[in-house]
Amino acid sequence: MNASAKSGGDVALSLAGVDKIYAPTAERPVHAVKALDLDVRKGEIVALLGSSGCGKTSTLRMIAGFEAVTRGSITLAGRRIEHLAPARRGVAMAFEGYSLYPPLTVRDNIAFALKGAKINARDADKAVREVAALVEIEPILDRYPSSISGGQQQRASLARALVRPADLYLLDEPMGQLEPRLRALLRGRLKQLLGERGMTSIFVTHDQTEANALADRVAVMEGGVLQQLANQTELKERPANLFVATFIGEPPMNVFDAKVEVGERVRFAVENGPRLDFSANEFSESARREIAKRARVVIGVRPHDLRLNSGSNEARVVSNQWLGDQSHLALDVAGKLMVAVAFSEMGASRRDNLRYDVPAAKLHVFDADDGKAVSHGAAAA
Ligand SMILES: Nc1ncnc2c1ncn2[C@@H]1O[C@H](COP(=O)(O)OP(=O)(O)OP(=O)(O)O)[C@@H](O)[C@H]1O
Ligand SMILES: [Mg+2]
Repeated sequence: MNASAKSGGDVALSLAGVDKIYAPTAERPVHAVKALDLDVRKGEIVALLGSSGCGKTSTLRMIAGFEAVTRGSITLAGRRIEHLAPARRGVAMAFEGYSLYPPLTVRDNIAFALKGAKINARDADKAVREVAALVEIEPILDRYPSSISGGQQQRASLARALVRPADLYLLDEPMGQLEPRLRALLRGRLKQLLGERGMTSIFVTHDQTEANALADRVAVMEGGVLQQLANQTELKERPANLFVATFIGEPPMNVFDAKVEVGERVRFAVENGPRLDFSANEFSESARREIAKRARVVIGVRPHDLRLNSGSNEARVVSNQWLGDQSHLALDVAGKLMVAVAFSEMGASRRDNLRYDVPAAKLHVFDADDGKAVSHGAAAA
């Protein structure tokens, strides 16, 4: 990451109010991307994370120019680009389906991306070899796409996108086909390359670890809507809504419907479940005020944040797994499973009762109707 991205510097790419509706005149149009506002800073790496069909590829294809925007504007490096042909946008893209040219060797596929880049043949050849080494495909440079594996095609496609000079790099699941070790190796190299050259990029992944490891910020999408764009710590500690809260983090956040009362104390009651009773001063005034507007909320606590063998709530142990460095416990709470993680070996066995506590500082509160965050720990959302 370069200095300007760190300090929140210049915006390289800006999407404003972008919509994508496929088959708008059909009986059932598909509203794939909805009112998308997205700013990516110069030199920044943004991961696009979300479940299948949430609109990730549609977003990248609109930026690259392979799909028209239905509404909205796209600005890159100070130029409005949404009406320009793909070749004139200054965007390099590695496609989800690789789309290599079958009649060309891997080498020529990669080199083809340099046509028009005004560099001499020797430099072009050097650039191709360097990027091929980076993604570990040097031995297959003279083969044709039809004779190499899916993982090799994927890396050839990635190399072809990376070799070009461009204002923006779009990588659609660039390492999805690769086995875990190669993936981890390439992730490190890719991060170094993008960082060293200050290459502004957006990459799609389904893998949270990959998103966290590679990106400066993560954009979480669902149902065509950007849910939150934030760094990894914010997404964990200050999720904007219930979707992000339960989507980000492994194992996922535990959530329960609860009644709430705010007075001298702040009390949450889960039906047939725990009562959480806090002194009012464990919450800021604005958090108390926000919580007090509601009679019902959704409360959430991450598995790592539960305190075990402490407090006055008890739950029956459903399972207890020691993973070698941490214990994962499933507890029966209000007829649901609540997962707790402890970084020591827990002695509890199935059907034991275990005491647990939720520290106020680790409690997340969400609106029961729209799922928007109300408070995180002591602070209002
Ligand atoms: N050409 C098209 N015509 C009609 N609908 C489409 C078209 N392309 C995509 N869609 C629909 O738009 C929605 C978003 O698709 P998109 O490919 O952007 O999802 P995605 O987030 O990339 O999913 P995945 O993780 O599976 O790749 C889906 O409902 C999909 O079926
Ligand atoms: Mg996709």
